[in-house]
Amino acid sequence: MKIKLFTLTVLALVIVMGMIMPQAARANDAKNGAAIYAQNCAACHGADGKGSIPGAPDFTAKDGVLKSPDNVLIERITNGFQTNGSPMAMPPKGGNASLTAQDISDVLVYMRQQFGVFVERRPSR
Ligand code: HEC
Repeated sequence: MKIKLFTLTVLALVIVMGMIMPQAARANDAKNGAAIYAQNCAACHGADGKGSIPGAPDFTAKDGVLKSPDNVLIERITNGFQTNGSPMAMPPKGGNASLTAQDISDVLVYMRQQFGVFVERRPSR
């Protein structure tokens, strides 16, 4: 009987942790993503995501590039790309070859939080 109760308690703890952990992981992702963005992306894309060089897209635009699904954006960030006729290419990994797949997925989480969701609620100017 005692052992059963112990087992149940452990099981309950595991279930509760399982519900809490993914949220903790997401918060960490966005935090790492913010650092990655500031160090590797903001020079061209701007801290506000609106783009600070010719050819860099406005991430905050309602119908902007962040509407593309994660797999498309992750592929483009990882390998770089250039739209036909664009004055400048997006360099692979923003020019920092040491970025990991986790870093790139984190930076996208950050960009969606920072430029995708919140910006739509901003009053238009
Ligand atoms: C040297 C400047 C530069 C840096 C650094 C840079 N980008 Fe870009 N990025 C660009 C340009 C220019 C484009 C537009 C390319 C085009 O459309 O031809 C672009 C486009 C993009 C797009 C749009 C993709 C699409 O589908 O149109 C995303 C997302 C993106 N960059 C993410 C990032 C991330 C994340 C980083 C940092 C890891 C980064 N960029 C660093 C210049 C840069």
